[in-house]
Amino acid sequence: MTHPVTYEREGRIGLIRIENGPVNALGQAVRAGLDAAIEAFIQDGEAGIAVIYGAGRLFIGGADISEFGKPPQDPWLPEVINRIEACPKPVIAAMHSAALGGGLEVALGCHYRLAMPGTKLGLPEVTLGILPGAGGTQRTPRLTGLAKAMEMVSSGAPVTPEAALEIGLIDRIGTGDLLEDAKAYASELLAQAAPVRPVSAMPRPAADATASATIRATLAKTARGLVSPLAAVEAVEAACDQDLPEGLAFERAKFQEMMQTPQREGLIHAFFIERKVARLPEIDGIEPRTLSQIGVIGGGTMGAGIATAALLRGLSVTLIEQDGAAAEKARDTIAGNLGAAIRRSKLTEEGRDAILGRTLATATDYGELKNADLVIEAVFEDMAVKKAVFAELDRVCKPGAILATNTSYLDINEIANSISRPADVIGLHFFSPAHVMKLLEVVVADETAPDVTATAFALAKRLGKVAVRAGVCDGFIGNRILSHYRAAADRMVLAGASPFEIDRALTDFGFAMGPYAVADLAGLDIGYMTRQRKAADRDPQEVVPVWADELYHLGRLGQKTGRGYYIYEGRKGTPDPEVDEMIVKARADAGITPRTFTKDEIVRRYMAAMVNEAARVVEEEIAQRPLDVDVTLLAGYGFPRYRGGPMKWADMQGLESLLSDMESYAQDDPYFWHPAPLLMRLVAEEQTFDSLNAG
Ligand code: 3HC
Ligand code: NAI
Repeated sequence: MTHPVTYEREGRIGLIRIENGPVNALGQAVRAGLDAAIEAFIQDGEAGIAVIYGAGRLFIGGADISEFGKPPQDPWLPEVINRIEACPKPVIAAMHSAALGGGLEVALGCHYRLAMPGTKLGLPEVTLGILPGAGGTQRTPRLTGLAKAMEMVSSGAPVTPEAALEIGLIDRIGTGDLLEDAKAYASELLAQAAPVRPVSAMPRPAADATASATIRATLAKTARGLVSPLAAVEAVEAACDQDLPEGLAFERAKFQEMMQTPQREGLIHAFFIERKVARLPEIDGIEPRTLSQIGVIGGGTMGAGIATAALLRGLSVTLIEQDGAAAEKARDTIAGNLGAAIRRSKLTEEGRDAILGRTLATATDYGELKNADLVIEAVFEDMAVKKAVFAELDRVCKPGAILATNTSYLDINEIANSISRPADVIGLHFFSPAHVMKLLEVVVADETAPDVTATAFALAKRLGKVAVRAGVCDGFIGNRILSHYRAAADRMVLAGASPFEIDRALTDFGFAMGPYAVADLAGLDIGYMTRQRKAADRDPQEVVPVWADELYHLGRLGQKTGRGYYIYEGRKGTPDPEVDEMIVKARADAGITPRTFTKDEIVRRYMAAMVNEAARVVEEEIAQRPLDVDVTLLAGYGFPRYRGGPMKWADMQGLESLLSDMESYAQDDPYFWHPAPLLMRLVAEEQTFDSLNAG
């Protein structure tokens, strides 16, 4: 293997090149290589200045995350960076594409910083549950002042070269030709006999009580439940009254403390599984079909959102509605969505005009879909209606066109088998609002061709979504698990907990919203329709939330009618005492004496139900691996990212303790609680869910 860091000289310029694909992470060999290269530069009497740069697609993506949790290996990154900074001859960092985490910290150890246009410069460690651990919290504020540094380390968001230049983080923006720009800068500095310029020797940043208070107020809103952003802020503040060595020691202590947290474990799990989720043997090496023209059938809530998502990523869309008025309404909804994208700086006004004028077509004639490469159906959730739509598509679409359904629950095999080309049929289950939500369940039916699945994953990437492969069953991965943990919540309500207590326990656990607030947001008609659909084959022992049916019949459909489980003023809801009365009556009718639930019991029962159904979903291969469940819940169901997903949470609790919880719940509710065979097997084998993610 060639060495990942090389040193060579051109004229008087030493060139230190890092090549450690895919992201030039700072693993042990790179750290040792940097040390050796700096030493070679120091010893090289002909060299007057050095440039550190990255080969490949970016400068440096940070410390090597896969080394975390393993025994540390010398040399230590902070020491390598100190040695770069202490070099008696100037060193330039020449950055392109991305300089993140330890990568930016290497640059901060250099004496001059040059970035190519478009480079992302950031300290994203908090997104992994840690904080910069190689001087980032100490050197950044010496360059930028306290407020900017606190913002960077606590949000993890990168800054542009323009912003970086303005705040003093870098010295120059190049033209885009990395090596030529770097050599020109180096020659210029040589000509000026520019001195070394260690950041550590710069004055400490001034304390700023207002900035410190402001950032804490921001974090209370944006980083609810997270521990590392505040730790990162405290480390930056330490730079105000300590010299670099003491500041680095303080940063190190905080870094080590964060390394030990479950949040770090959860967030790093999330990072890796999001990258692993699309790696599926069935599509490995399979060429996706070409996609440029998309058809969407139905321009309601979902169809308009799906069309918007595709249009925003440069795809042409033809949307079919039932009649002209519905088509116009869909166009208005899409225009509104695009307007929101302009407000969020995701689109320009000219971009919107081009989309509405050219790339979006609305029609009522299915014949307009004859050139579509992919059609996504989003009409009413009714098998007969969907089959009629697919029959039309079968008639008009060109051979090789992919025919997708956005159904939430219906049997995609039945839809596929109702037409002449089942191999071209797949489920593309978007989440509402479809142009915002990250998750896309790719539901592979029995006959779906592998290149159709591969195309679905390619589409997701193009749309900026996280795709998860699911099998066909009622609710696929997410909604099937959801209906089980929702049932657990309803059973707790009937036994004595209030919906508000349940929501509060779960938001304290870290969910974005509790299940009853979510129901109000989605509309209580959705749950009602689902219960109606399942009524015919419902087991009499199932708990039917009669109070929810009552709310539906009263027209209290949640946020959209101003009243549901909560009473709304704007989007803020307060508990509705009339809902309590309905629940009290339901308990009395069922002869139940209510009992109290602690927050902890609420969370444990809810999570146990989630994990148990998830284990069944994995066992039945609806989800191929536990990580597919974790990604689904993280990307589509507001599961707290810092807990890594339900399967990771279960592993961290210990599967044995979870199983024993379920056995105890089964004593008071034997109908509902049956530990999944997979869970029992893993406990017997002393294994984790994560052991099934390998490969
Ligand atoms: N360490 C180890 N592996 C990494 C890595 C890292 N820092 N960053 C990315 N990778 C791996 C990914 O897991 C992926 O592996 P795979 O191909 O086996 O799945 C591969 O590199 C490519 O990654 P992406 O698919 O994410 O590539 P992109 O080109 O889309 O994005 C990136 C590149 C923007 C650098 C993105 O990978 C990223 O955000 N990486 C993490 C950045 C980060 O958080 N850095 C801070 C690390 S912590 C640190 O530096 C501590 C220090 O302060 C001491
Ligand atoms: P919606 O009722 O808002 O929209 C359906 C649209 O389809 C209507 O505009 C209707 O005019 C149109 N339509 C009906 N029959 C048609 C036909 N034959 N040809 C052309 N247009 C036709 O429904 P929504 O919520 O958008 O749901 C659509 C599908 O997406 C359903 O299958 C639903 O289960 C699924 N889904 C819904 C989610 C949600 O949160 N609303 C989430 C994920 C999936």
